[in-house]
Amino acid sequence: MDFDRINIGLEAISFFRKEQKTDFQKINQLLREQSGVINFFENENDYIQLKQAVEISSPVVCKSPIEYGDYQTNENLATAITKYLSAKQICPQVLIEPTCGKGSFIISAIKTFDSLQQIFGIEIQKKYLWQLKFELLDYFLKNPAANKPEIFLYHYNIFEFEFQNIKSRIDGRELLIIGNPPWVTNSTLSSLNSNNVPVKSNFKQAKGIDAMTGKGNFDIGEYISLKMLDLFSKENGNFAFLIKNSVIKNIVYEQKRNNYPISNIEKLTINAQKEFRAAVDASLFVCRFNTTPEFTAREFDFYSAKPKVTMGWINNKFASDTEKYKKYQRFDGICPFEWRQGIKHDCVKVMELERIDGGFRNALGEEFELEEDLVYGILKSSDLKGESIDTSRKYTIVTQKKIGQDTKLILETLPKTKAYLERHKDHFLQRKSSIYKGKPIFSIFGVGDYSFKPYKVAISGLYKQTRFTLVKPNGTVLLLDDTCYFIGFDTLEEAEKIQHELNKPEIQAFIESFMFTDAKRVITKDLLMRIDLGLFSQQRHRDISLFD
Ligand SMILES: C[S@@+](CC[C@H](N)C(=O)[O-])C[C@H]1O[C@@H](n2cnc3c(N)ncnc32)[C@H](O)[C@@H]1O
Repeated sequence: MDFDRINIGLEAISFFRKEQKTDFQKINQLLREQSGVINFFENENDYIQLKQAVEISSPVVCKSPIEYGDYQTNENLATAITKYLSAKQICPQVLIEPTCGKGSFIISAIKTFDSLQQIFGIEIQKKYLWQLKFELLDYFLKNPAANKPEIFLYHYNIFEFEFQNIKSRIDGRELLIIGNPPWVTNSTLSSLNSNNVPVKSNFKQAKGIDAMTGKGNFDIGEYISLKMLDLFSKENGNFAFLIKNSVIKNIVYEQKRNNYPISNIEKLTINAQKEFRAAVDASLFVCRFNTTPEFTAREFDFYSAKPKVTMGWINNKFASDTEKYKKYQRFDGICPFEWRQGIKHDCVKVMELERIDGGFRNALGEEFELEEDLVYGILKSSDLKGESIDTSRKYTIVTQKKIGQDTKLILETLPKTKAYLERHKDHFLQRKSSIYKGKPIFSIFGVGDYSFKPYKVAISGLYKQTRFTLVKPNGTVLLLDDTCYFIGFDTLEEAEKIQHELNKPEIQAFIESFMFTDAKRVITKDLLMRIDLGLFSQQRHRDISLFD
């Protein structure tokens, strides 16, 4: 172990400098008394190295890889969280921190809860466990009268850890599972070729196209949270995890199926930018174990305790704001139109074009000519801000009129387009998504008759805004990219009517009541398909012939 890279407190350094014992079993016994940590040194060699290191130590912590989703909780936040739990009369006797890192939660819990008898911490990065051990030693040397629980620290991969051993030791005592699991998704890990994933990595059991398009993508933090709930929610105790809002949403969503005996579910929003320098939305997720299952989470601001909304299941539907949802629930149903996602090509560098004098320029900066036949103006999410649009900044080549169509024939008659695409064949071949496997080389997705409807009512999937934009042709039809959703119409009149209906305040409020603004895709096809246009139009606007 490279002790030079561990933060060791001065008190602990001086303890080891003074300590003359050479037998590591004896020193372990002494350290158990001094720090509570069982088996402080796992072997003699570690102790010898430590003795050498403390003579010259000026420790620093080295950077951790992305694959560990490593965002250590700062001491202030960990303390504010343990104090929050203590104010709720939570008095744990047993504490589990499943990925404890350098142990901010363990240290804060020791300082906050006098009731603690045993602590279990698991962590994959050894340097953090060392840091924690020395901090514990330092703390108890400075505070000899403090309550000193037994502390079991395991240098282990949580995905291989046998939790049954801990479970069998709880024995009805009050448990607290606290922590901040890794902030990384399985797809990031797979792009890093990392094996820091659970064995059953498709635990969401996404199948076929869902697995390909990311519905099988999950956060490691979600996997660990569900694992903890699976294992421990029948114990007496509480759960307090710092996790991404998207993970909280999924846990509450899955609660309908999982039916964990959890209640008093809270989502306390934190400022992840300030606390972790991370551009994600995250919160403290708290719940009580071993109670009658609940299916909603009350949301508060962690710092001010100001209540926000309640999210979760209501009348068999899932809402981001249950109160608002109740008010506008009458619009929940099945949209009579099919919402479509725009064109997907995953080849921005060569397929996203600008028009220049006499030709086109791609994102590589190359200038060239193309026949006009397959060139269409294309709108991106950022173009859908106003009430209507009829011009595009970007253009693309529509190589197929429907999915799977052979591209050879169309290209035969278009030598410039063919030469351009052939020249950039590699870009197409390098597309990672498995949807392109076994398909014609220049394939695109999200294309069909509907793409070429002249009028469209469209919305971005990426932004928090819920207003719909009217897309009109200007000589040629405008298309949308795959960050957008739309319905296509043959006439302006039809499109305007639907846009008008969708932008009404009550529909906007209905959408807000069940959209999750912190999701990667705020607006999804599933969400749009729930807007029962037919229902509200027939009820309130019987004169709209469109729905008759
Ligand atoms: C977001 S950090 C939080 C650390 C600590 N819980 C805290 O609140 O400061 C996630 C921690 O999980 C650890 N970790 C990542 N993958 C792990 C695994 N497979 N087994 C155990 N720990 C892991 C990382 O090393 C890191 O310390």
